[in-house]
Amino acid sequence: MISVQEVYESNFKVGAYSFFEDLRKNQPIHALSEQNGNTTWIVTQYEDVLKLLKQPSFIKDQSKLFSNAQSDDDPMEAKIFQNMMLDADPPDHRRLRKLVQPHFNPKTIKQLEPRIQDIADELIFQMSEKREDIDLINDFAFPLPIIVISELLGVPIEDRDKFRQWSNTIVSAADGEEGDFTRDIGEFIDYLKELFAERERNPQEDLISNLLQTRDEGDLLNDEELYSMIVLLIIAGHETTVNLIGNGMLALFEHPDQLNLLKEDLSLTEQAIEESLRYYSPVDFSTARWAEDDLELHDQTIKRGDLVLGSISSANRDDKQFHHAEVFDIQRKPNPHIAFGYGIHFCLGAPLARLEAKIAFKSLLTAFPNISLNQMSKPEWRQVFLLRGLNQLKVNL
Ligand code: HEM
Repeated sequence: MISVQEVYESNFKVGAYSFFEDLRKNQPIHALSEQNGNTTWIVTQYEDVLKLLKQPSFIKDQSKLFSNAQSDDDPMEAKIFQNMMLDADPPDHRRLRKLVQPHFNPKTIKQLEPRIQDIADELIFQMSEKREDIDLINDFAFPLPIIVISELLGVPIEDRDKFRQWSNTIVSAADGEEGDFTRDIGEFIDYLKELFAERERNPQEDLISNLLQTRDEGDLLNDEELYSMIVLLIIAGHETTVNLIGNGMLALFEHPDQLNLLKEDLSLTEQAIEESLRYYSPVDFSTARWAEDDLELHDQTIKRGDLVLGSISSANRDDKQFHHAEVFDIQRKPNPHIAFGYGIHFCLGAPLARLEAKIAFKSLLTAFPNISLNQMSKPEWRQVFLLRGLNQLKVNL
């Protein structure tokens, strides 16, 4: 049995994709660990990951199986992770998603385009002033989505370093690193409490003010769900699009023919983004699903109560689904990758992430047509389990 640690490590080594290829061929359903009689599995083939994301019998709410339903005495620190739409099944999932969906529809998101372009232009201006020692992550890919999501939610941008820390604490905790988790989450909740109080006194045209009103007016959103919603949106807004921009630019640097093709014809940008999403998927694994019934898969029995993780990165490199899956081809068509998931939990922020990435790629390649990897410094992958992204990406302009 391969340990989580081994999967974790292989995931960041150059050999990550060959490790998954090996699993796809030899052990398409793989037992990672066992605890209290229940197994944690990973599935790696495209078809199986899709099945996992589509199947209503793979549920999200673990408490339905193990009746560890939250009690009223649980602190908010515990509740914010139990009330996210991402961890809910219908009908709660539908109710929660409906509250925010209108804010993330492609049409609504399109209206943000001029503002996102302004932010990108300002960051590019700062990079061209600085000129040297440019880190594409810190100087561009990170601030762009953070500023956008902060403005959309109504979170003061001056506090972005705090959010970066809290967000990092939460995603690192998925690796089992306790660290200063409790303290940081406590601070995060206190901060939100104050922000909510301020917005109740002084409502603005932002998503937080809007959700506060929903909470006050009906029984559509309770207190814990409100906190969970904001925490989820902040984390999703902080930890994902930065990876898409960084990973996509890295893939282009690693494939100069594709970079040149794109520079010569920027109308290929949207396709290049889809291929980046497939090739270096920013979210490596789907979040947890629990089996509600016993199920046979590749001669193995997934038992009721087992936890199943789908490897999105592996599915998106499955040769059975993608012709020459290991080739980075910005003209790939069709490209039915599942980097944003599939089914009812399909990424709410996909239209926003796609628009931000389009503006990012176009603006960078137009402003800096000679942009290239700084050969003095190797790109560094972040050491987190669920996500694939770079710590830094040094470039020459
Ligand atoms: C769900 C990926 C950006 C908000 C998901 C899921 C994936 C994903 C794979 C499904 C997880 C599962 O089913 O287990 C990505 C990628 C992004 C991105 C690759 C960027 C490139 C964003 C942004 C936001 C966002 C910018 C919000 C501002 C959400 C939410 C869900 C979600 C709220 C849960 C949806 C539900 O449960 O119905 N995302 N995401 N994401 N994403 Fe994203």
